[in-house]
Amino acid sequence: MTRPTLTTTAGNPIADNQNSLTAGPRGPVLMQDYQLLEKLAHQNRERIPERVVHAKGWGAFGTLTVTGDISKYTKAKALQPGAQTPMLARFSTVAGELGAADAERDVRGFALKFYTPEGNWDLVGNNTPVFFVRDPYKFPDFIHTQKRHPKTNLRSPTAMWDFWSLSPESLHQVTILFSDRGLPVGVRNMNGYGSHTYSFINEAGERFWVKFHFKTLQGHKHWTNGEATEVVGRTRESTQEDLFTAIERGEFPKWKVQVQVMPELDAEKTSYNPFDLTKVWPHGEYPPIDIGIMELNRNPENYFAEIEQAAFSPSNIVPGISFSPDKMLQARIFSYADAHRYRIGTHYEHLPVNAPKCPVHHYHKDGAMRFFPQVTGNTDAYYEPNSFNGAAEDAKYAEPPLQISGDAERYSHRIGNDDFSQPRALFELFDAGQRQRLFSNLAAAMYGIPQEIADRQIALFTKVHPEYGAGVKAALEHETRAKAAETAQQQKNPAGPVAAE
Ligand code: NDP
Ligand code: HEM
Repeated sequence: MTRPTLTTTAGNPIADNQNSLTAGPRGPVLMQDYQLLEKLAHQNRERIPERVVHAKGWGAFGTLTVTGDISKYTKAKALQPGAQTPMLARFSTVAGELGAADAERDVRGFALKFYTPEGNWDLVGNNTPVFFVRDPYKFPDFIHTQKRHPKTNLRSPTAMWDFWSLSPESLHQVTILFSDRGLPVGVRNMNGYGSHTYSFINEAGERFWVKFHFKTLQGHKHWTNGEATEVVGRTRESTQEDLFTAIERGEFPKWKVQVQVMPELDAEKTSYNPFDLTKVWPHGEYPPIDIGIMELNRNPENYFAEIEQAAFSPSNIVPGISFSPDKMLQARIFSYADAHRYRIGTHYEHLPVNAPKCPVHHYHKDGAMRFFPQVTGNTDAYYEPNSFNGAAEDAKYAEPPLQISGDAERYSHRIGNDDFSQPRALFELFDAGQRQRLFSNLAAAMYGIPQEIADRQIALFTKVHPEYGAGVKAALEHETRAKAAETAQQQKNPAGPVAAE
């Protein structure tokens, strides 16, 4: 087989890719070695900023196949019976940087991009149905507690527990994070949730509220903290290996896709705010409806181009699927596209992985990396309105009006919200073993924080369930005694067991 000839980026054939152009065999290097200069310059530009959160990730392509019939709730073409939609999934941890180890206790991102005939629909969820905060004003502060301390450059358990203990709305998510499901062996063995309440709109223009669920068909599998420590010692890339090799072997991971649907006016009747991201909708009240299967069946050819440059945004909706008044969702509608313009560049949506697989017509104009031709239908139509048959609006896509009322005010999101019942319902689902692991996972994470903060957090656990508070208190005391014994042992024998022999 003949090999293609190596070229520069401008297509000039390269005669020697091993040796720099030098004055004499010992150098120095000549300035005119443009091939060397090009190689070094490109290397200097190989990185884009990592995502400010969810930096470490793993992804693959697949298909959403709809088998159920929810056409009475939504007109979205991708959700009609029999529809098959190509899609991309990117999973991630939240707090770790790009090179973080995979087997860490953290929420997993579950970001999906469906390339539908009506544009891209992105569902940017997590492996948990709820979140730590319910007001977006709290999000940057929350994330700062998960990232590194400005002085020590270390992760700070004090900051984490200080924030959580002062934010009782976090209890539900904290309970999930420190339960078995907080450390899945890989992304194949976890559920995904759209988490927010979204809306469906049907052909008749009726609105329903909806929550999305993706139930793993590989079964739930988790690691204990001890097992994860051993895994990280062996490989830092356990999830990447698991997902990539399973797909290469032809073992395509699948998730059962379900929705919970609430008639629009029920939102005024539920005992909880259905737009509060710290709450689930109990299955007993809104039973999950099976709508189909999501399967991942193709690994990316180039990780950087297709996964690192993938840009997901909750603002990407399609006719028949829309937003809700959830304050967190509203903020995310702004935040993601803004992040992509900074992280990737103005025209990020024209990169192949982000480009819709349907016609795109807009009047946005120039800027760095404007590499695509006019997308308005006609080169004379570069403004709107115009007389040159350029793309124009179509009122048939208008959403039904949404009734909103109320005075503009910074309403306290802590007033009138029950932060304890739903974590209690979860705690009551756990058997004795699950509860004990929850206690010891929490104790391991809380060890060493100031007593005042620990007491405040334990008081919150006690309000969820007296056995929850008592269990964490006992586990923390046990952890403290064990660590003290370890320290005493080290002081007696500072050089460790080998030197002692
Ligand atoms: P149900 O008993 O009908 O639902 C319980 C849900 O909890 C199931 O979806 C199950 O997921 C999930 N679950 C089971 N074990 C765990 C675990 N160790 N960690 C996290 N989730 C688990 O009760 P409700 O709908 O009334 O909900 C009760 C509690 O269950 C909620 O307060 C919430 O904490 C939790 N939950 C509820 C969900 C919902 O949408 N209603 C979704 C996920 C959790 P699976 O089907 O995969 O086994
Ligand atoms: C990533 C902001 C809440 C799931 C990101 C990114 C930002 C961000 C800026 C980086 C995007 C990028 O550079 O590509 C916010 C804000 C939130 C919020 C402002 C709240 C107000 C949430 C919630 C969820 C979530 C509630 C899940 C339900 C994700 C996921 C990613 C992500 C999965 C990674 C997407 C990917 O794989 O590229 N978030 N986020 N975020 N966020 Fe959020």
